Amino acid sequence: MTSTIHDPDALLELGQALQQAGYRFTTVTPATHRRVNDRPGNERACDLRGVFGWSRPFAEDVVPAGMLALMRRAGVVREAKNGLFATVRASTIGERLYFHSAFPTRADDAVFFGPDTCRYIAALKRSMDTLAPPRRAVDIGTGSGAAAIEVGCRFPECESIGADINDYALELAAVNARLAGCAKLPTVHSDLLNGLDGGFDLVLSNPPYILDPSKLRYRHGGDMRGAGLSVAIVDAALARLNPGGSLLLYTGVAIVDGRDEFLETIQPKLAARRAAWTYEELDPDIFGGQLDCEGYEDVDRIAAVWLRATLAA
Ligand SMILES: C[S@@+](CC[C@H](N)C(=O)[O-])C[C@H]1O[C@@H](n2cnc3c(N)ncnc32)[C@H](O)[C@@H]1O
Repeated sequence: MTSTIHDPDALLELGQALQQAGYRFTTVTPATHRRVNDRPGNERACDLRGVFGWSRPFAEDVVPAGMLALMRRAGVVREAKNGLFATVRASTIGERLYFHSAFPTRADDAVFFGPDTCRYIAALKRSMDTLAPPRRAVDIGTGSGAAAIEVGCRFPECESIGADINDYALELAAVNARLAGCAKLPTVHSDLLNGLDGGFDLVLSNPPYILDPSKLRYRHGGDMRGAGLSVAIVDAALARLNPGGSLLLYTGVAIVDGRDEFLETIQPKLAARRAAWTYEELDPDIFGGQLDCEGYEDVDRIAAVWLRATLAA
């Protein structure tokens, strides 16, 4: 079954109501989420954070009647075994609120948002301080739209495109952009950059990078222990960046015996285009639990990395 928002205006109003109520929620990893929800007393939600953050079943009177009506209009509430259940989560970074999929995210069209998004946005904000204002930018695999929104809000003259292969992500990204007051944010169905014409001053991405046996779209990064899609993004960006344009890529790389195969693969590509680039490990060890999974037998660790590459003007 594919997910959809019945009434985007109702979801927008719900987001505004949550913001007015001072709602805040930091999304944690699935392992932490499960642990916290499994604690005695956390079976059901008793406040808005329980409903929209922790994705717990709830009784009708936990949510103000106006919000519940908006949830029904938007089609983001369903009957559960022990109450009602919100099919979207709402997470915040600073003042911004983003709708994405409820926990657990098992569906193939689940819309991702997590600690990786927070690291991605933090690195993006730092990089934007020293970036020439782009006129056209694209966030490949935009999910909730967080990064495209950040670019669109920082550079109001820029056409900041949110691209994804998941149509439900595009629906939520469009609502999240309106919620952030980011008016100029087209959302486009596109596999990498194949659904878009023309050049870009800025290509950015936080793509899937896990070797996921179930091949979930938001998680599976393909061959090279999940780095395949990230390499494809480097190729696509180098082919489509305008002179002076930049690629900003947040990804996770499997380090094998001290070697970073992703970096070894992209270095000659960057050199061939005479790109100026920096590559930084943001976190040396993420998704440690993944190392117990098939395909990771020889992997030391997964590192979160940040690539910034700029073509000559
Ligand atoms: C890990 S999620 C990240 C979402 C968002 N960028 C963020 O930081 O929260 C990866 C996203 O890439 C999308 N995706 C996967 N393969 C893609 C492809 N070939 N082209 C475009 N988007 C893709 C998924 O649907 C998903 O929304």
